[in-house]
Amino acid sequence: MQERSAGTAATSDRHRDPQLDEHVRADLPTTLRPTGDNNVIDFDNRVAIVTGAGGGLGRSHALLLASRGAKVVVNDLGGSRDGSGGGSDMADAVVNEIVEAGGEAVANYDGVHTWEGGEAIVQSALDAFGRVDIVVNNAGILRDTSFAKLQEDQLDLVLKVHLYGAFHVAHAAWGHLKDQGYGRIINTTSGSGLYGNFGQSNYSAGKMGQVGLTRTLAIEGAKYGITANVIAPVAASRMTEDIMPPQLLERLEPENVSPLVAYLASETCTDTGKIYSVGGGYMARVAILEGEGATFDGVPSPDDVAEKWAAINELGSDPAEFTHGVMEQTTKIGQALGIEVT
Ligand SMILES: NC(=O)c1ccc[n+]([C@@H]2O[C@H](COP(=O)([O-])OP(=O)(O)OC[C@H]3O[C@@H](n4cnc5c(N)ncnc54)[C@H](O)[C@@H]3O)[C@@H](O)[C@H]2O)c1
Repeated sequence: MQERSAGTAATSDRHRDPQLDEHVRADLPTTLRPTGDNNVIDFDNRVAIVTGAGGGLGRSHALLLASRGAKVVVNDLGGSRDGSGGGSDMADAVVNEIVEAGGEAVANYDGVHTWEGGEAIVQSALDAFGRVDIVVNNAGILRDTSFAKLQEDQLDLVLKVHLYGAFHVAHAAWGHLKDQGYGRIINTTSGSGLYGNFGQSNYSAGKMGQVGLTRTLAIEGAKYGITANVIAPVAASRMTEDIMPPQLLERLEPENVSPLVAYLASETCTDTGKIYSVGGGYMARVAILEGEGATFDGVPSPDDVAEKWAAINELGSDPAEFTHGVMEQTTKIGQALGIEVT
C-alpha cells in the first residue's frame, strides 16, 4: 500500500511502544534540506560500503558518494543476473572510475549471501579506511518463476542474497556504528516486495523482509545515532533491460535514484525507518497503514467477524492512494514522466 499524502497512519494508544515513541521524537524534521546542486551534502571523513556496486544502481550510488568525498568500498561478486559465476572485473572497473575521477575507493569481491562474506566486506572498510559509517545494501539477483514451479535453489539463493545479505553486512557493521554513535543504513526493497509481482514470490519475500529489518534497525539504532531507511527503486539496469519499454528505460537512469540514497546517507538526514519509492526523477514516501479497526466485546465468533468485516477492512478517509502491484508503481512513475506505460 502506498501513501502519497503527508499524513501518517493512525495508531491507537494500546499499540504504542515507549521505545518507538522515543524513536519518533528523535525523528524530528531536518532543518537543512538541499536544493539543486548546492553541495550541502558531503561525506568528508565518511566511509561507505555499497554492495553490488559493480554495475547498475550500486555503481551509480558509489560514484555519487565518492564524488561528495566518501571513501567507498565497492563490493561486487561479479556474477550474472541469476547469481551464478563471479569475478573481480566489475568491482575493479568502478574503483578505477572513482580513482581516475580523484576519489578514494577499494574493491571487495565477497558475496553478501554468507555471514563470512558480510564480515569480510566490513573488514575491507576497516582495513582500507579504518572505519565504516554508511552501509548501502544493494546487491541483488533474480531467479524468477511462477510459485507453482518454484524450486529450492531459486528460493534459497534469492533469500540469501536479498534478505540474509542485508542482515550480514548490516550486522557486521552494527557494532562499529554503535560504538561510534553514528551510522546510516540504506536497504533496497522493491515494488515487487511492497506490492507483489507475478513470478517473483521468492524475490518479493526477500525484499519485503528488508522492510521489516529496516524498521527494527531504525528502532534499535535510534539511541546510537544510527538511521535505517529503505528504498524501492525503479531503474534501467541489466535487471530490467528486457522487461520495460525502451522509451521508459531511457528516462530511468540509475543516476535518478542515487541522490535519494546520498541524502539518506548524509548527516543532514535524520529521518529513519522510512520507505521511499524512487525512479526517473520521481520520489515518494511509502507507508504501511493500519485502519481504525473494529472492536468486540469478549472473544468474537467467526460470525461476529463476518458482521464487522467492512469496518475491519476500512482504512479511513485520509487521502491516500493505494498501489496494487509493481507494474502500477512503474505506471505511476511513467505518468509522472508523461510516458504511457502499457
Ligand atoms: N532496477 C530496478 O528497477 C530495481 C527495482 C527494484 C529493486 N531493485 C534492486 O536494486 C538493486 C540493484 O539492482 P540493479 O537493477 O542495479 O541490478 P544489477 O544486476 O545491475 O545490480 C546488482 C549487483 O549485485 C551484484 N551481486 C549479486 N549477487 C551478489 C552477492 N551475493 N554479493 C555481492 N554482490 C552481488 C551483481 O553482480 C550486480 O552487480 C537490487 O537489490 C535490485 O533487486 C532494482
